[in-house]
Amino acid sequence: MDPSTSGLAKKLAEADQSHLLQFWNELNPTEQADLIHDLQGMDFQEINGFFKSAMEMSSSSKHEKMDARMEPVPREVLGSVTRDRDCLKDWELTGLHSISQSKVAVLLLAGGQGTRLGVSYPKGMYDVGLPSHKTLFQIQAERILKLQQLAEQKHKIKCCIPWYIMTSGRTMESTKEFFSKHNYFGLGKDNVVFFQQGMLPAMDYRGKIILESKGKLSMAPDGNGGLYRALGNQGILDDMERRGVEFIHVYCVDNILVKVADPAFVGFCVQKGADCGAKVVEKTNPTEAVGVVCKVDGRYQVVEYSEITLATAEKRSADGRLMFNAGNVANHFFSFSFLRDIVQKYEPQLQHHVAQKKIPHVDGEGQLIKPDKPNGIKMEKFVFDIFQFAKTFVVYEVLREDEFSPLKNADSQDGKDTPTTARHSLMSLHHRWVLNAGGHFIDENGRRVPAIPRDGAAGITDDGNRNLKDGTDLPIKCEISPLVSYGGEGLEELVKGREFHPTLMIDESGVHELVKNGV
Ligand code: UD1
Repeated sequence: MDPSTSGLAKKLAEADQSHLLQFWNELNPTEQADLIHDLQGMDFQEINGFFKSAMEMSSSSKHEKMDARMEPVPREVLGSVTRDRDCLKDWELTGLHSISQSKVAVLLLAGGQGTRLGVSYPKGMYDVGLPSHKTLFQIQAERILKLQQLAEQKHKIKCCIPWYIMTSGRTMESTKEFFSKHNYFGLGKDNVVFFQQGMLPAMDYRGKIILESKGKLSMAPDGNGGLYRALGNQGILDDMERRGVEFIHVYCVDNILVKVADPAFVGFCVQKGADCGAKVVEKTNPTEAVGVVCKVDGRYQVVEYSEITLATAEKRSADGRLMFNAGNVANHFFSFSFLRDIVQKYEPQLQHHVAQKKIPHVDGEGQLIKPDKPNGIKMEKFVFDIFQFAKTFVVYEVLREDEFSPLKNADSQDGKDTPTTARHSLMSLHHRWVLNAGGHFIDENGRRVPAIPRDGAAGITDDGNRNLKDGTDLPIKCEISPLVSYGGEGLEELVKGREFHPTLMIDESGVHELVKNGV
């Protein structure tokens, strides 16, 4: 097909994007067909509009003004696993009851590209090197299975937690293949629903779409807030409605400690009548790469770590804690009716955020350039940008060492949020579960390891970072299958009064000491 006769050239000219056909005559027929296919699916006027408003939004003066308008989360919307300990059991019962009624679904955001981790496959397929070598996907799947089982046992009724998995053009096929190869990790195939978010082109600072090669646009997923468009146009809302889903727990793929469909969090939000909720941990280091939940102009919002100024991030309250310390762990609660309103009414109002990037491209002469400084932008919507529309918004604070250890970066000396820190966090948590259930560990000299781990977690330093420098923070090697325990429950009968040599593995087949047995 000739673009000039197809109307495409005219469409491009009108949108000031004609350069995309600049190398048309140098492309072979397959490349031409692919380019036409890509271009035909795009609404250039809309993309230009996104670019214009995203650039306006990201102007620095607006940011500074926003800093002045930020207020911390007030205590009355906050539930805390430490300060409200008395309520925890009740919240959990409420959540478990909703789960038993099959009213709770989980939704995984897995469309990211894992650029920082540096792997070419989806992050959920990553094995952080646990004794079992389970991947993040498997750990999450088994937590869902166990929770279904706990709800069924408690309420004597069969139930299901549907798992919606958002992928992108880059992760869809490999994610689906992986699940199919592993037989959906024991979950019903029909209850694992994959869908795909949209993609947007990278643009230079003048608003021209960037060509990554002569016949190919530079495309990237449209941010985890691409969720809301995808929920509508991929039929996911309809699927939820058909199943009678009332509450949705949305989370990111990379947190090895994630309590998928956490009954206490769900129960807390349900009891408060919330349409929208966010789980947070205390942010203790001003430069930690987590967004902060706060109010701006009286409305709830997350101010992302890339968008807060250092001066604001460093502000402290009278008690010495960071003023903006509600660290977003990317675990959100939404009621179904709230999500439906977002998809049907508010989604178009969500603004794209701008990330300045070094984007490889072909120049006017067709030469491939790999820039050493940012040369353009990627536009992304963020999942939490819908908080502003909530009528009843709540915040649920949990302990970092119990619930948050994300996998962001590749391993390196002193690394933060790496496979090693993720592995250590999980083993450290499971170590504490064994101790709480009355078990003990024996070191290589036959002595009991002191009952309290050095810092209660995987080498978390005062500033909230995980310390790997000196090896003294290495956790006891201990892993408990989620199929045995979701959150530390049910372990007494297996470990109480017993002593174990690490590596301890507890799974469906029993309690195993791997090193002692020479495994
Ligand atoms: C995210 C949060 C940040 C939080 C931190 C905690 C957002 C926008 N930011 O930051 O506030 O403190 O996690 O770890 O949520 N994803 C998609 N599609 C995309 C881009 C990302 O599905 O287009 C998914 C990723 O697969 C991942 C999640 O969103 O599961 C978070 O993406 P990532 O880029 O890792 O977010 P952070 O910058 O770490």
